[in-house]
Amino acid sequence: MMLKPYQKSSSSKKNQIEKMFDKISDDYDFLNWIITFNSHNRWKKNILSLAKKLNPLNALDIATGTADIAIMLASIPNCKVVGIDISEQMLHVGRKKIKKKKLEKLVSLENGDAEDLHYSDNFFDLVTIGFGVRNFQDLEKGLSESFRVLKPKGCLIILETSIPENKVIRFLYSFFTRTYIPLIAGIFSKDKLAYQYLLNSAESFPSGKKFKNILEKVGFKNISIRPKLLGSSTIYIASK
Ligand SMILES: C[S@@+](CC[C@H](N)C(=O)[O-])C[C@H]1O[C@@H](n2cnc3c(N)ncnc32)[C@H](O)[C@@H]1O
Repeated sequence: MMLKPYQKSSSSKKNQIEKMFDKISDDYDFLNWIITFNSHNRWKKNILSLAKKLNPLNALDIATGTADIAIMLASIPNCKVVGIDISEQMLHVGRKKIKKKKLEKLVSLENGDAEDLHYSDNFFDLVTIGFGVRNFQDLEKGLSESFRVLKPKGCLIILETSIPENKVIRFLYSFFTRTYIPLIAGIFSKDKLAYQYLLNSAESFPSGKKFKNILEKVGFKNISIRPKLLGSSTIYIASK
């Protein structure tokens, strides 16, 4: 059974994800900060340092949400960045951040679906996806689209939650997230089901070698896996 935010509703996962992120868009940055103790920001900076070494001239940030990664990528000299997302309200928060930082000429945000990208084949030097892939309706379709729009030798960098491999750490991590996240969401979020879904999807999403196998299946090569914070998140780097 496909994991969806609102299991009782019959609408598609994609439709539910769009609605869910629309609903939590105003609180998303704050809750991300508090739930990860701002580690998400450090991991996004890791993506930037990896990306800088590639000197990309154009980059696509898929599932850009409130545009943190797209904004960071704009600091790479001569790099134009496009961020896409299916949630218009997440993009709305992102656009306000871009305007405040006067980055409109370097970063543009568009409503778009990772599983049906409206860009030509072999178009981007770099594709990034931060905490997006586990929300895709069809994971392989989404990753195949990233593969298609990348130039040959172009690079894909993915940041996603993962499950610590060490059993003791995994137990402690699961205990911590299952008590802390519902508590924080209960106090601060308008949508408690959303955070329950985010927790459940993090626990059931394929990570590490399993995710590497999926990347290979859609055609990616030279895949490296870099666990962060005891394996609670992972950065995957792959090339076309
Ligand atoms: C957890 S947020 C991540 C936002 C941002 N990348 C970050 O790292 O903070 C996940 C985002 O993925 C978007 N998303 C999910 N499925 C998508 C799809 N098929 N195409 C585009 N965006 C999608 C959601 O709307 C949401 O904004």
